[in-house]
Amino acid sequence: MRMAMFSTKPYDRTFFTRAAGSDAQSTSPCEIEFFEARLTMATAPLAAGFDAVCVFVNDHLGVDVLEALHAGGTRIVALRCAGFNHVDLDAAGRLGIDVVRVPAYSPWAVAEHAVGLMLTLNRRIHRASARVRDGNFSLVGLLGFDFHGKTVGVVGTGAIGTVFTRIMMGFGCDVLTYDPYPNPECEALGATAVDLATLYAKSDVISLHCPLTPQTHHMIDAHVISQMKRGVMIVNTSRGALIDTVAVIEALKTEQVGALAIDVYEEEEHLFFQDLSDTVITDDVFSRLLTFPNVLITAHQAFFTREALEQIAATTLANIAALQRRDRDAAHLVAAQ
Ligand code: NAI
Repeated sequence: MRMAMFSTKPYDRTFFTRAAGSDAQSTSPCEIEFFEARLTMATAPLAAGFDAVCVFVNDHLGVDVLEALHAGGTRIVALRCAGFNHVDLDAAGRLGIDVVRVPAYSPWAVAEHAVGLMLTLNRRIHRASARVRDGNFSLVGLLGFDFHGKTVGVVGTGAIGTVFTRIMMGFGCDVLTYDPYPNPECEALGATAVDLATLYAKSDVISLHCPLTPQTHHMIDAHVISQMKRGVMIVNTSRGALIDTVAVIEALKTEQVGALAIDVYEEEEHLFFQDLSDTVITDDVFSRLLTFPNVLITAHQAFFTREALEQIAATTLANIAALQRRDRDAAHLVAAQ
């Protein structure tokens, strides 16, 4: 089996090379060729002759790219991520391309990063550290609040939302959850399942842990924001387009939103996962976000722990091996297939 891996970074190469050489893979070896390029119509010809391609969150697999892959002989798309909103599953099914993913690799990695963002932004730790390095030991402007006793709303109580709930309960927060399929584990932890309107109205902090779907696209818009508590902190480690960024900028200006911590951004594919420090950023919406003292942005790194990368590589190769031996139940085929 030959696999072309797109959007490869040095850490992908390290973890996949290690996993491909491990004993578990020796019975069904996968020969990987690493490409730094994103998968686009322009780069799809690189995959010609490869049985499988492996892609990440910002490789778009629309019908045109899938048809190009199919024409080159590719029959497996292995997503080395959980979300599959960037793949045209109908087109893949029609073309007979199997799409597999890594449904869960480390919910702790993402949940812990969300908590890290909350703590950093609330206590201005990033600014405090820069000040101290500059010999400025003033506390003015660094005032935060106790999370203990605050109400935290968790939207989506799957793997990550549940770990996040557990951590927030440990902080002594009142946790409200919303999920169309409520998770009894969260209630057992002491959280209260409520409807979305209640969660928005009562929460001091709202953290998003649901997938991006047509129903959740821009779920945080101007109307919803107006229903929230004044000064609410919004945390998004899920997918950028859950938030209408222009609406949230307006709300930051009026202070209806008191703080915004994001690891994802709706136009991130043009920015994230590359060094643009010597480049003029032409995305004015993103640039405006950077001007707020109460906005904290990381570049889609919530998943980025050793444990998660080991799991991503192992599960991706196990998915490929399962398809090779026609054990479709063991491969994490994407649901719509
Ligand atoms: P999961 O599938 O275990 O849980 C998602 C939950 O969202 C499910 O319980 C589902 O019922 C619920 N849900 C679906 N529609 C909803 C709606 N309209 N409102 C509220 N809840 C809804 O997924 P997991 O592993 O917890 O991941 C959550 C999201 O985190 C992923 O969809 C992905 O977008 C994002 N993610 C981000 C990463 C990062 O590095 N920033 C890494 C991994 C995942």
